[in-house]
Amino acid sequence: MKFFYGKQYINSKDQKKVLEVLKSDYLTQGPKIDIFEKKLINKFGSKYSIAVSSGSAALHLIAKALNWGKNDTILTSPITFVSTANCIEHVGAKTDFVDIDEDTYTIDPNRLEDKCKKAKKKGSKFKAVIAIDYAGHPCDWQSLKYLANKYKFQLINDNCHAIGAKYKKMSNYAAKYALAVSHSYHPVKNITTGEGGSVLTNDKILNNKIRLLRSHGMLRNDPKKPWFYSVDDIGFNYRITDMQSALGISQLSQLSKFISKRNTIASYYMSYFKNNEKIKLPIEGKDIKHAYHLFPILLNLKKIKKTKSEIFMDLRKKNIFLQVHYIPVHMHSYYKKKYGFRKGDFPVSEDFYEREISLPIYFDLNLKNQKYLCKTIEKIL
Ligand SMILES: Cc1ncc(COP(=O)(O)O)c(C=O)c1O
Repeated sequence: MKFFYGKQYINSKDQKKVLEVLKSDYLTQGPKIDIFEKKLINKFGSKYSIAVSSGSAALHLIAKALNWGKNDTILTSPITFVSTANCIEHVGAKTDFVDIDEDTYTIDPNRLEDKCKKAKKKGSKFKAVIAIDYAGHPCDWQSLKYLANKYKFQLINDNCHAIGAKYKKMSNYAAKYALAVSHSYHPVKNITTGEGGSVLTNDKILNNKIRLLRSHGMLRNDPKKPWFYSVDDIGFNYRITDMQSALGISQLSQLSKFISKRNTIASYYMSYFKNNEKIKLPIEGKDIKHAYHLFPILLNLKKIKKTKSEIFMDLRKKNIFLQVHYIPVHMHSYYKKKYGFRKGDFPVSEDFYEREISLPIYFDLNLKNQKYLCKTIEKIL
C-alpha cells in the first residue's frame, strides 16, 4: 500500500449523484450549479457564491473583477500554491510578499503593518492583500481587517485549504472579514468536485461581475431577442459543470464528518510526536477550529542528522510519498527574474521551506495505517 499526503474520499452516494446527472439532459450548465451555489451560501454564510472550474479560476476572476492592473501592487505571503500570486500577474499588477508568522504559518500582521507604514512614508500604498488560511488554519483576520481599514486595502481570503474551518466560532468568517474568498475543490482538498472551486462574497457588484466573467462576459438581458447577448468586458470559460456540482452537493453534505476525521488524525499525530524533539508540530491558535487540509511538520535537521532529501528517499522506500507545501513563491525563477527577489528576503518562509514536510491526512486514513506511518516516520527520523 502506498501513502500520499492527501487523497479524495468518494462513496457510493457521491457516485449515484453524478450518475443521475449523466442520465439527465444537462451535463454543463444545468440546475445542479444553482443548487450547489445555494448550499455553499448556506454552509459558509456568504450572501453570494459563484461556482467555477478551479480555485485558480476563482482567484483570477477576483483579480479581474476588482480591476487590478499595472499601477497596483498586491501583497500575499510566500508560503502558498503559486496560483495565489499568479492571479496578480495574470491581470498585469505587481506582486509583493509579506513573511509568515512563525507559529501559524499565515501572513504576519505585524510585518504587514511595517510594510504598509513604509509604503505610506513613500507616498504609496497597496491595493489589496491576499491572505491564505494555510493548511486550514485561519489567519488573524481581526488584525488583518483592522489593517485593511487603516491602510485602505482590499482584503481577499485564499481559503482553499480552510473549507470547514472556524474563526472565533464562526463558520461564516471568510466572507465576513474578506471582500472575496476563493475555494478549491481539487481532489486533495477537504471536499472535491474533481477540478472545481468557487468565489464567496457579500458584495453584490462583485458577484454580478464575476458571474459574467465566468462565462465570457456574455450578458443576455433582452427578453424580445432570446438569441442576443452583449459583451461589455471580455471574460473566460471558467464554468463548472452539472456533474461536478452534483458531486459538490454530495460532498458538502459530508463536510463536518470530513473535518472531524481530519481533526482526529491530527490529534493522534500530536499525541504520538508530542515529546519528539526532532519535530515541530503545528500550533493551533486561540479561538479557531482547524480544517487540517494539511498536517505540516517542521524537521529539526540538526537533531535528525540527515538531509531533507535523504529523509524523503528513506520514506519512499517504505511506500510513504510525502510532499512539501510549499516552495516559497518568491524563490521561483519567474518571480526572482521579474522582481529581483533573493534568498533572505523572507527568512521565516525560507526556513519553513527548508524544514517542512506534510504528513498524510485524509478521510479514510485508518488508525492501523496511521500507527504504521508514525512508527516508520519516527524510525527514519
Ligand atoms: C492555497 C491555494 N490556492 C489556490 C489553489 C488553486 O486551486 P486549484 O488547484 O483548484 O486551481 C490551491 C490548490 O492547490 C491552493 O492550495
